[in-house]
Amino acid sequence: MKLLPKLGRRVVTEPGEVALHARNVRFDWSKTAPVWMKDEPVASHVLNALSMLLPEGERMFLVTFGEALELVKDEKLREAMIGFIGQESMHAESHNGALEEVLTAHGIDVEPYVRQTEYIFRKTLGPRDDLTTEAARQQHLVERLGFIATLEHFFAFLGDWILNADLERFDTDPQMLDLFRWHGAEEVEHRMVAHDVAEYFSVGYVRRCALMLVVFPIFIALLVRGTKYLAHQDPNLPNHRYPMLILRIFAAMWRGALPGIPSLLYSALTVFKPAYTPEPVGSSAQAIAYLAQSPAARMMAS
Ligand SMILES: [Fe+2]
Ligand SMILES: [Fe+2]
Repeated sequence: MKLLPKLGRRVVTEPGEVALHARNVRFDWSKTAPVWMKDEPVASHVLNALSMLLPEGERMFLVTFGEALELVKDEKLREAMIGFIGQESMHAESHNGALEEVLTAHGIDVEPYVRQTEYIFRKTLGPRDDLTTEAARQQHLVERLGFIATLEHFFAFLGDWILNADLERFDTDPQMLDLFRWHGAEEVEHRMVAHDVAEYFSVGYVRRCALMLVVFPIFIALLVRGTKYLAHQDPNLPNHRYPMLILRIFAAMWRGALPGIPSLLYSALTVFKPAYTPEPVGSSAQAIAYLAQSPAARMMAS
């Protein structure tokens, strides 16, 4: 049993394998502004950009796992995949709700960016009708499963970061913080699933490393582009050109309002270890402890 000195001074133990299930959540967005960390407008835009990317990305996960599920004979893995699908579905809809009720409700046009993410995730990474042989379809599925495992590494990293980051000191809206922490905690909780599926479908070491080399810069580029798109619509950020915006993002990282690039890069590089697993990326005990007291999850549980 591994001891984890997290959660302040409390010492918690890892719970071992946990059965995954989706938690119903509800958020009240009536008092939330788009700049939800008042002292950190650029960091708010970066995380809002993540909210614009996530729903389509996670819907692609659902479609792909739905396809893969038919081919999985291992009952334990199937159960984990079904739990994963339930959780990702709730994540996509909850972030979509935040987009509509916080960003769109405050006059921010998210549609052009969201349409682009739809194109990327549905056309480029979705199922393809033009593949005529079973072998080609299988190959395409395996590549998409490898891609999902790579993204899930980032999501577990980000989940672990947001569970531990002291964001309250930036005058932060508690609803939006709970959205990201609830989501982050479930990402930590289910961090092994996409990796186990990738192993089951023999994604393999070379493809895992190649996917990380491709996905890391694309993920960062899409996030920065989304941030610029939102900063462009923020009248309080007159200079939103890339050099100034990137400097502001680095400054927010320095203040701890965003995860730092060195730690993200270090985490990404761990996939190059032949014996890599996402197990050390966060603590299940900490994630489950957060989920037990997440206001949005408790509201629906009561
Ligand atoms: Fe998710
Ligand atoms: Fe996930």
